[in-house]
Amino acid sequence: LLVDKGNHRHFMAKEIYEQPEVIAHTFSHYLDLAAETVSLPELPFDLAQIQHISITACGTALYAGAVAEYWLERFARVPVSTDIASEFRYRETPLTPGGLTIVISQSGETADTLASLRYAKECGQKVLAVVNVPTSTIAREADAVLPILAGPEIGVASTKAFTCQLATLACLSVAIGRAKGLLSQDDEHRLVRAFMEVPRLMTEALKLSPEIEVLSRTLAKAQDVLYLGRGTNFPLALEGALKLKEISYIHAEGYAGGELKHGPIALIDETMPVVVIAPHDRIFDKTVSNMEEVAARGGKIILVTDPKGADEAHVDAVQKLILPEMPATVCPMVYSIPVQLIAYHTAVIMGTDVDQPRNLAKSVTVE
Ligand code: G6P
Repeated sequence: LLVDKGNHRHFMAKEIYEQPEVIAHTFSHYLDLAAETVSLPELPFDLAQIQHISITACGTALYAGAVAEYWLERFARVPVSTDIASEFRYRETPLTPGGLTIVISQSGETADTLASLRYAKECGQKVLAVVNVPTSTIAREADAVLPILAGPEIGVASTKAFTCQLATLACLSVAIGRAKGLLSQDDEHRLVRAFMEVPRLMTEALKLSPEIEVLSRTLAKAQDVLYLGRGTNFPLALEGALKLKEISYIHAEGYAGGELKHGPIALIDETMPVVVIAPHDRIFDKTVSNMEEVAARGGKIILVTDPKGADEAHVDAVQKLILPEMPATVCPMVYSIPVQLIAYHTAVIMGTDVDQPRNLAKSVTVE
């Protein structure tokens, strides 16, 4: 293997720590830094003409797509549906003209994602692949490719591919918004400047590692962990739960904050930690209510937030991980770092095989 772990104990740690550098590389590919604009390579279809978008993928790539759904609807005002590739391919989803299908895959070889791509093409959709391996089957068969440029990812649990997928999809969302005349030049400059801050913000986030290591000792004792988030932090909650179960084998579930009352609240007691991913946003008070509901039942909360959020979360039994304040659009990228570190440190404490977790494969090329 040409890639080594450097000074890290695991490939996963190395891949978490290299994110500021690799995401800077991805952004530099899709941004014109001097002009503060998004600059995608030429695509064989007109972004302004896209009427609807279907996103399909598996695992972590699916959650990157679920985040992008929020951005695409917000910046490009296009209806988006995000779907599990194995469902999409068999559901016979009606796909009408003017549609773009975005397939997201680190390896570019996932069987269900590839089958979804073929189905979308048969239905006359334009297909755009967001992949890490540019020579992959998915990249070859798509109408256009946006490589995420994360470099080889060895850890089975995806980390840097996720954040670089997000970076690429964020740039695409802005590009479509601009092509449709929905984003002013000022909006675009503001977003691009926020993207350019991501590597620095990620470096700040990595400094939480020692604190997370301490918190993880509590998580390692848990049987179940609940992750909550709202907006783009909802798919990040799903990703956090996935990451934890994949490498620590602790049962975890991700939920949208608003759904707490519709089921998972029944599980809350003093033995069930709840990880709340909540920067201070316009619905932060709703998240505070969720935390009060958890605290009232003896639940222990780990709140990943910013200084304002930390100030306003007057709830018992909350341990806080505080990130710098940042524009909402970049939150899912930067908040990925503590989410990944929580899973990583917990798994290391549990003594599992972090880079090669049992029963999982890096790439699932059979159904
Ligand atoms: C496997 C891997 C996951 C990955 C998923 C999709 O389950 O263990 O880490 O997210 O496949 O893989 P892809 O290569 O299509 O992104």
